[in-house]
Amino acid sequence: MRAEDAPMIRLEDYRPSDWLIDTVDLDIVLDANRTRVRALLQLRPNPQGRAGAPLVLDGDELTLGSIALDDVPLDAALYSATPQSLTLPSPPERAFSLRIETELNPAANTKLMGLYRSSGVYCTQCEADGFRRITYFLDRPDVMSVYTVRLEAQKAEAPVLLANGNLVAAAELPGGERHFAVWHDPHPKPAYLFAIVGGRLDHVRQPYVTADGRKVELAVYVEPGKAGRAGWALDSLVRCMRWDERVFGRNYDLDVFNVVAVSDFNMGAMENKGLNIFNDKYVLADPPTASDGDYISIEAIIAHEYFHNWTGNRITCRDWFQLCLKEGLTVFRDQEFSSDERSRPVKRIADVRTLRSTQFSEDAGPLAHPVRPRAYKEINNFYTPTVYEKGAEVIRMLKVLIGDDAFARGMDLYFERCDGTAATIEEFLDCFIETSGQDLGHFARWYEQAGTPTVVASGRYDAATQSFTLDLAQSTPPTPGQSEKAPVVIPVALGLVGKAGDLPLDSLSPALKAGGVVVLDEPSLSVTFTGLTEAPAPSLLRGFSAPVRLELDLGDAELLRLFSADSDSFNRWQAFQTVATRALVRAGAGSDLSQLDDKASELAQALKGFLAGPATADPAFAAQVLRLPGPADIAREIGRNVDPDAVFAAHRKLSRGIGIALSRPLAELHSSLREAGPYSPAAGPAGRRALRNEALGLLALATPEEASKLAQAQFAEADNLTDRLAALAAMTLIPGEAREALIARFSELYAGEPLVLDKWLMAQALIPEAGTLDRVKALMASPTFSLGNPNRVRALIGGLAANLTQFNRADGAGYGFIAGIVIELDRSNPQVASRLLSSFKTWRMLEDGRREKARSALAMVAATPGLSRDVADIAARSLA
Ligand code: TRP
Ligand code: ZN
Repeated sequence: MRAEDAPMIRLEDYRPSDWLIDTVDLDIVLDANRTRVRALLQLRPNPQGRAGAPLVLDGDELTLGSIALDDVPLDAALYSATPQSLTLPSPPERAFSLRIETELNPAANTKLMGLYRSSGVYCTQCEADGFRRITYFLDRPDVMSVYTVRLEAQKAEAPVLLANGNLVAAAELPGGERHFAVWHDPHPKPAYLFAIVGGRLDHVRQPYVTADGRKVELAVYVEPGKAGRAGWALDSLVRCMRWDERVFGRNYDLDVFNVVAVSDFNMGAMENKGLNIFNDKYVLADPPTASDGDYISIEAIIAHEYFHNWTGNRITCRDWFQLCLKEGLTVFRDQEFSSDERSRPVKRIADVRTLRSTQFSEDAGPLAHPVRPRAYKEINNFYTPTVYEKGAEVIRMLKVLIGDDAFARGMDLYFERCDGTAATIEEFLDCFIETSGQDLGHFARWYEQAGTPTVVASGRYDAATQSFTLDLAQSTPPTPGQSEKAPVVIPVALGLVGKAGDLPLDSLSPALKAGGVVVLDEPSLSVTFTGLTEAPAPSLLRGFSAPVRLELDLGDAELLRLFSADSDSFNRWQAFQTVATRALVRAGAGSDLSQLDDKASELAQALKGFLAGPATADPAFAAQVLRLPGPADIAREIGRNVDPDAVFAAHRKLSRGIGIALSRPLAELHSSLREAGPYSPAAGPAGRRALRNEALGLLALATPEEASKLAQAQFAEADNLTDRLAALAAMTLIPGEAREALIARFSELYAGEPLVLDKWLMAQALIPEAGTLDRVKALMASPTFSLGNPNRVRALIGGLAANLTQFNRADGAGYGFIAGIVIELDRSNPQVASRLLSSFKTWRMLEDGRREKARSALAMVAATPGLSRDVADIAARSLA
């Protein structure tokens, strides 16, 4: 079948499997080119399925070696096998066993799905449907089985042999060259959580006792020689396990918990039961080779995968349409963990930045889809910011709407009621309906309706009646396949800010719920607050209480007052960003840059007061304030007929203007925030570095000559990667010989450190200059780069695709280049290729010339023969 003709899979067509598999015994003899897999499956008819149905097992590029039913070789007339399936048209109508033998070539597996080799280490990736690349199976998440796995390998090649669950036996084989290990996982699980690892690996470990008294051996496995970089991941693991016990009452449930880092990995990490496998980028860290951002993301992703043990593994998904049941909820949980470990407002600001840049842009383009999609051709294309990040926002809104207590009891009920099952969003929501007593039917629309709602807010103060009326109205734009939109339930957390700060809200309006929340669930709503002796400034959507766009009628002066007086840190940050965004949208959409001079001095004035005040007591927050909305944010806000060069010019001009006006205080910040002691990734020093480096970035635009000296000095004396990278980034803004020299010096210093060189590749790919495309092409030819490694591709090629002006070059060369790479990469790794192609997701917002060039690049991809389903699907939906 051609990829373009792949069938559409629909939620409404779901029916339970006709067959179940209770146990799986695997015997795997590892070999680089000829790995032998013997599977013994215990099958039985599903009482919920159709009686007498055929048995159709899934496969993907498999060849059947042998097959036996109840230990008797099966007559060739009784089954048919293709690479994609193994069918028994009329199997016995009772429980029976199947023995199936397949042979695999892990070294040739460039898709990095199923069993493959990464730098000589055997590992697996089975979500969403990779298990069928190992053996024929009912590869769907509602078929859950107990697995026992015997692994055999040469001791020299794979001294470490790991699988899910607990180790039950291990021994050398006669002759002493080979050995085996047997692992048993007592928890029934879907095939997508299966994993094995074999190879030479070092590890660090730590004993742990759960709150309910279970002794667990924790270990982090890494490539030989890198154990010194595994400590932070292990430390993060211990902290997130304690947190899950304390906050969600969840204990771990096996005797071992293993984390393995591999260098070739399609995504961030994978929550396989008891054996999490990670992209090494999200495990390895030490001060010379990891930035503050790396420490933060390692902590978050270790937590994310660990938290899946309950939200994903103990309770899994009935079908892949329910993906957000585990992903949105688990992102919510990891966000909460990071908030508790660090600064909650700074974490929220960072998360909202990510949401807007990745999810809002997806929701506004051709790839928009609901948090729970209703149809797909290729499920791997639905591991998206909408499912993950918007999915987490939906959980966050639920908590705001029903309150902390009903939310906590609802989670408890969910864990109790759904444990051991493959569940649905409906079953999840039912728990909260019960504990809150609220009808969440309308709220559930968040799962069904794509598109980012806009809330328009306007307020009126009436001195005569001492009342303030707030009018709110919502609308959601049409998205592919959904032109009519209904109102959703939007919790608007708000405050009213007077001259002396927040006004007490309690008795001011009956529409207010606990915590100062107004629920907008109709097209519009008007709320009147009485007893106000002054005109307040409304502070809306505090803490970003809903994933919506907010248009409010406050003037810049009032917003800047909120920036200094709002008690809600998120909205202080937002107020400043809104003023800057408005000016940049006006200038970027109109090409009249002159008005930006006044705006720069107005904003600089506000920042001067901010930086002189107590702001620097929270440097991480101050750093977020100093970081203006980026060119891509402005382009997204403009939304149509976008000229990226005009947007970029506006952004440059405003940044420069602010930088020049503040050059003295910024330079002072840069010198006063220099850390004395040795490097620590803790939030305090990381926050100071963030502010200092934000200052350096602005100086690079404002006073390039002095900033170049500062950056070079910072690079030379830094004892950590954060400061080195910031110096490199600042220098990339200052064209010239010094920049090229620093780029060269960087690669010498970090030769042999691929993860650090990824950042170096990306920094160059992001340079907003016409020469960047050629630079990227030259780097592709260097030995640092490899199309076979997803991290390299994401750094260099993904970097260019994220470079607003250079991807969207007026001559279309950026599109042609990315399209060409997508086509080439699709032959070896469709998942990485299709993610790269998703960079085109904003193409429709561009001005005519670029839009036409982007369209023709997409059309060229779509017309390529032999495309994978992954790429064919993204290309077709992007063009639709
Ligand atoms: N479930 C994983 C997570 O959220 C991500 C994941 C899905 C994945 N599909 C994958 C990882 C394919 C690697 C490859 O943590
Ligand atoms: Zn996840």
